[in-house]
Amino acid sequence: MLELLKRDGLARICSLETPGGMLETPCLLPVVNPRISTVSPRELYEDFGFKALITNSYIIRNNRELKEKALSSGVHELLDFPGIIMTDSGTFQSYVHGEVDVGNREIVEFQRDIGSDIGTVLDIFTEPSWGRERTSEAVEVTVERTREAVDLKGRMMLGGVVQGSLFEDLREDCARRLSKLNVDIHPIGGVVPLMETYRFADLVDVIVASKKGLIPSRPVHLFGAGHPMIFALAVLLGCDMFDSASYAKYARDGRFMFVEGTMHLEDMKRISCDCPACRGQSMESMSGMNQEERCRLIARHNLHEMKIEIERVKRAIAEGSIWELAEQRCRSHPALLSGLRRLAEHKVFLEKYEPLSRDSPFFYTGKESLDRPSAYRYEKRFFERYKQPQMDILVGFEDGRRPYASTYSSEMRAVSSVSDAHFVVMSPFGPVPIELDEIYPIAQSLFPDIKDADTDLKMRKLMERMSHDQTYGMCVIWEGEETLKTIRSIARGTSKFDIDMSRIRAVADYQFGEGASSILFDGEVKLVKSKTTLRIRNVLVDGAHVLSMRADDGFFTLRPEGARRLRNGFTSPKLRVIVNKDSAEFNRQGKNVFCGFVLDCDDEIVPFDEVIVVDESDTIVAIGRAMLTRTEMLAFKKGLAVKVREGVAT
Ligand code: GUN
Ligand code: ZN
Repeated sequence: MLELLKRDGLARICSLETPGGMLETPCLLPVVNPRISTVSPRELYEDFGFKALITNSYIIRNNRELKEKALSSGVHELLDFPGIIMTDSGTFQSYVHGEVDVGNREIVEFQRDIGSDIGTVLDIFTEPSWGRERTSEAVEVTVERTREAVDLKGRMMLGGVVQGSLFEDLREDCARRLSKLNVDIHPIGGVVPLMETYRFADLVDVIVASKKGLIPSRPVHLFGAGHPMIFALAVLLGCDMFDSASYAKYARDGRFMFVEGTMHLEDMKRISCDCPACRGQSMESMSGMNQEERCRLIARHNLHEMKIEIERVKRAIAEGSIWELAEQRCRSHPALLSGLRRLAEHKVFLEKYEPLSRDSPFFYTGKESLDRPSAYRYEKRFFERYKQPQMDILVGFEDGRRPYASTYSSEMRAVSSVSDAHFVVMSPFGPVPIELDEIYPIAQSLFPDIKDADTDLKMRKLMERMSHDQTYGMCVIWEGEETLKTIRSIARGTSKFDIDMSRIRAVADYQFGEGASSILFDGEVKLVKSKTTLRIRNVLVDGAHVLSMRADDGFFTLRPEGARRLRNGFTSPKLRVIVNKDSAEFNRQGKNVFCGFVLDCDDEIVPFDEVIVVDESDTIVAIGRAMLTRTEMLAFKKGLAVKVREGVAT
């Protein structure tokens, strides 16, 4: 069973319970060839700390000695590995050699009988060159074989492999059908040729199509992905497990793996690595080694490099910076950059998992950053949810230091003293009305002062889109004193613009949906502000505390009275997480909502959204923060669904 512990979008840190013990994901399973071991399984476990490995059951079965030992003493004893052992089925051999002399039933039973912790179906390897019909037939056979394997697996966990070549609909359909079967993990198969030929944009399409159809509560293994340079990108798209035979294969031909790419020993001028394998070595010492020693050293280096990268990726998930890391890694190779660029085509899907905000700021690393789902979220919600105030003049400011309202305070004061004006900043995210300047990612973003043409073009396009349905009498771009003179010459009266009231309305609609501000602020509104920062802290309506505003991301946390208003104003299930009776009792006492107790919830909820926890009769039992999306809450059997801030008694 899988439990989600930390997440950033689709990237996640989970714990996976297996018959051989707990496994924390994302993780890498080194491939161990039962006949030749470059680094022994015992060493992998004890020296490197790999808690799981993958080996090939077909190779074991085809060697009399190995087969007998595996059947009599088990695969763990055969390999001398005390951790978790996953086995593959022979599919890859059939792809390489054209055929295998084993059936699905036999190889699945064999994996079970040798005590594999996670076995694999004998799926059909769908190659990128295949046509639609052949691929579709192979998917049928793969699904059918998976169905057969489910009844044979016993206590072994089973990998149901998603196939479908480059046909995104076939992939998604295969994934959807496998999700309905009683399998435990989902490898994505048929991708080795894409990785070998650096077709990373196609790889992105394949992963996304598979993820769309897969149930989120099962781990996703990217079969054959064993180069550290792609881990961040694959994890960003929701892959949890990898396996690598490359560490040993590359080592045999003298190739070092780095996150920046692969380097052949012959081409290297210096050893730039300080991993435990390379420490103290030099080009001279390495050339003095025999082939076997050198191969072992490089294999160990490759394993260290992958292990360090997996840990680095996990840290990025925990800190909220997986996008920055993936973008940096994808600059290692132009083909990876294509992979990164392809993400732009999947932003609608990615946005569903995009958190409301993050602990770490939005760091611009290049034009691809503009296509992140957080930027798309802003654009979408601005155009769908933001309502322009009815005012005479709109003044547009250039992008500047954040928060914009402090940067442009004196200009705004000067303009407001002579006219009824509103203000917008022409930011890299598009138009930012001054009252939205504190929300994530606007205030928490960093762009280079020297802008590039792509950023400028995006800003212009979005400004133009806004101009189509603007209702101001006049729009001007701020160019200093001259602009003030112009405004003075045509302006009538002084400003009616109240930035605080505009801010709470705009943020409420942006965060909770169109109409939320009318529902929440119907009555006499009073704002409590921080004495030191002068920022809004609490919003009281008719004397009741309805919302608090967070200083770090500019969004609201709900108070019980705010939740009551939203519950009354929006029909179910909007903003709600509906829990069963057993859970409701606990949640009323302020205890968290766990998966398995959730009956339903709003499909528009995104991670870290404020939500209203209700029972089946729509009575509020708690308020808190959603950790998961609807599909995740309903799929996971374990783990936190809503972090409850406060129970609400009836
Ligand atoms: N190893 C690499 N690719 C594959 C695949 O598509 N299926 C299986 N079973 N193993 C693989
Ligand atoms: Zn090294």
